[in-house]
Amino acid sequence: MYDFKPDDALDTAERYRQLCDAADALTAGEPDPIANMANVAALIWEFVPDLNWAGFYRIAPAKSQGQELVLGPFVGRPACIRIPLDRGVCGAAASSRQTQLVEDVHAFPGHIACDSASRSELVVPVTRDGEVVGVIDLDSPSPGRFSAEDAAGLERLADLLADRV
Ligand code: SME
Repeated sequence: MYDFKPDDALDTAERYRQLCDAADALTAGEPDPIANMANVAALIWEFVPDLNWAGFYRIAPAKSQGQELVLGPFVGRPACIRIPLDRGVCGAAASSRQTQLVEDVHAFPGHIACDSASRSELVVPVTRDGEVVGVIDLDSPSPGRFSAEDAAGLERLADLLADRV
């Protein structure tokens, strides 16, 4: 049995440190990317408070041509399956290779609303050998939920997972 339940009193930096340690322990030596993404989505859900969606989109072949983001393992409501690289917060993170911290999703041009409860969003690209292979997406029902500390913590998690997802 895995029991990674965090203490409610943890500050944000310590919370992400423990999340990264737990993700490292759970994914080390496991070559299956779906198993690793599924466990890490569940860990994010345990460690990061006030979320309504947490999970992965992966770069994959588009149905017609080129590449797009395709839904991966997540916790939350069913979500849109395919996101073109020029659409939404996830597409912006993947195509710019930059973390997107959105305080108010209604003010983000092209935001894709998968769950109408979402009010703020944090999306971090996962890169391997200089290429974006996917993104980690967190949604919150609270406006302005995410800080620079959340972004830094999630970026560390993305670095850790580069070879494992
Ligand atoms: N809001 C995202 C779409 C994915 S859902 O939040 C799960 C976007 O604008 O790319």
